[in-house]
Amino acid sequence: MKAYLLGIFALFFVALMICMPQVFAQQGVPAFSDVDAIFQSRCVKCHGGTRPPEGLHLDSYNGIIAGAKDGPAIIKGDPAKSKLVKAIKGTWKPRMPKDGPPWLSGNDITLIEKWIEAGAPQ
Ligand code: HEC
Repeated sequence: MKAYLLGIFALFFVALMICMPQVFAQQGVPAFSDVDAIFQSRCVKCHGGTRPPEGLHLDSYNGIIAGAKDGPAIIKGDPAKSKLVKAIKGTWKPRMPKDGPPWLSGNDITLIEKWIEAGAPQ
């Protein structure tokens, strides 16, 4: 009887170990809705509507992926090369949001970087 219980416990433990990384991985990837909330509150007043600056729409997932007239705003998997990331960090000028400061918080910038790094999931 004791061995039987131990067996169940061991199985349970193994199952837990298998699930754990997946749970953590999911927590690590920001959802598009979180990223979207930042764009909606800080970017869409300019990058929305019918004629946004440089043709860059930040008011929808497709708009973000489509990028600007002169090239992509984000490179999936590569935040460091993404113009949008450079723009919110101020390594591309003019720094965004153009009506800043205030700029985006460190947390918001990290969230956007992680989202791009994860392949910018919808
Ligand atoms: C007050 C209006 C305004 C706001 C708010 C704003 N932008 Fe912009 N954005 C502009 C203008 C205007 C340009 C064109 C560049 C310039 O001014 O020389 C631009 C250009 C850009 C570009 C470069 C497009 C290209 O490829 O040439 C990116 C990327 C960008 N904005 C991202 C953002 C993000 C992200 C936010 C929100 C955090 C934001 N912008 C908020 C006005 C704004």
